[in-house]
Amino acid sequence: MATPSHSTQPTVLITGGAGYIGSHAVLALETAGYQTVILDNLEYGHKELAAQHLKAEIIVGDTTNRSLLDEIFSSHDIAAVLHFAAYIAVGESVSEPAKYYRNNVYGTLNLLEAMVAHDVKKLVFSSTCAIYGPPKTVPIPEDHPQNPISPYATSKLMVEKMLLDFQVAYGLQSVCFRYFNAAGADPEGRLGEDHNPETHLIPLVLFTALGKRESLSIYGSDYETRDGTCIRDYIHVSDLADAHVKGLEYLLAGGETSFFNLGNGSGFTVKEVIETARRITGKKIEVVLCDRRPGDPPSLVGTSDRAKSILGWQPQYPDIATIITHAWQWHQKRHG
Ligand SMILES: NC(=O)c1ccc[n+]([C@@H]2O[C@H](COP(=O)([O-])OP(=O)(O)OC[C@H]3O[C@@H](n4cnc5c(N)ncnc54)[C@H](O)[C@@H]3O)[C@@H](O)[C@H]2O)c1
Repeated sequence: MATPSHSTQPTVLITGGAGYIGSHAVLALETAGYQTVILDNLEYGHKELAAQHLKAEIIVGDTTNRSLLDEIFSSHDIAAVLHFAAYIAVGESVSEPAKYYRNNVYGTLNLLEAMVAHDVKKLVFSSTCAIYGPPKTVPIPEDHPQNPISPYATSKLMVEKMLLDFQVAYGLQSVCFRYFNAAGADPEGRLGEDHNPETHLIPLVLFTALGKRESLSIYGSDYETRDGTCIRDYIHVSDLADAHVKGLEYLLAGGETSFFNLGNGSGFTVKEVIETARRITGKKIEVVLCDRRPGDPPSLVGTSDRAKSILGWQPQYPDIATIITHAWQWHQKRHG
């Protein structure tokens, strides 16, 4: 393990920093001048991408390993933690809930206990709009009722509740970011989305454009939306990364525990995403119309006014065509 940095810039520990959103956040932190240390078990992360494009020290290990966490906090002067490490597949969480509660809830509890023991009391947490469940009002504000309908979403809400209790009992301050649909890639093409298995719409559309899949399944075309397909709020991963830098600055300036939606506030249907991708890629992109999937709400769009007014966050890439263009550049380079 490396010796502690002598720089005056704060050092930040990023769990899951070799994954999709975490790696973009590390890039944004480094661009803003922070020292970075990644903890990732590499189950889904990409070490070669992180090593090539990030300055961070990369520690291969697991959030459930308390002695490793103690070693990291003892040997580095960590000012704050950005916590991305989690399992993310909603469907798998239904069939294997224990796996999700162990990693997402117990792994986080272990991290929080280690932080308190080492007097590190600032954390930015990756939560999700899935904690709201089927929306009662759209766009969804942060005070919308919480009704998660999958073990994945429940695991995220359980962590949010733990964070409230840790603030009261131990003074640990946190920012919970409830992301809508993360999408796109670093505009300079250094990093991007590479999940395996992939479940997200835009990469699946682009895999079809690349000829890696024969067709794309559209689940439900009879919803009460403008073209019958589901509406989602896509937010550029670099805008998410920028929000994390702002969330960290808020905490370092003495900000207290708070919850923020991160979305664009406007939604696009599945068919609109596919049409935009056809235009950008120049490819046909075959689709197959399938039945609805249980638990898929017709529309998920959030208001992000709190993040804008309190953190001064403003998405730089709200346009769906820009999001898909950056993702396409990445997919061609990575999988073309
Ligand atoms: N992708 C989205 O649209 C989205 C939406 C809402 C919330 N989120 C949340 O954002 C976070 C990051 O998502 P992502 O899309 O970048 O996923 P990802 O799988 O690309 O990244 C997660 C990283 O965490 C690592 N990891 C998992 N468990 C670990 C553990 N116990 N110890 C150490 N490392 C571990 C994985 O190897 C991976 O590199 C997750 O917490 C996810 O729940 C993602």
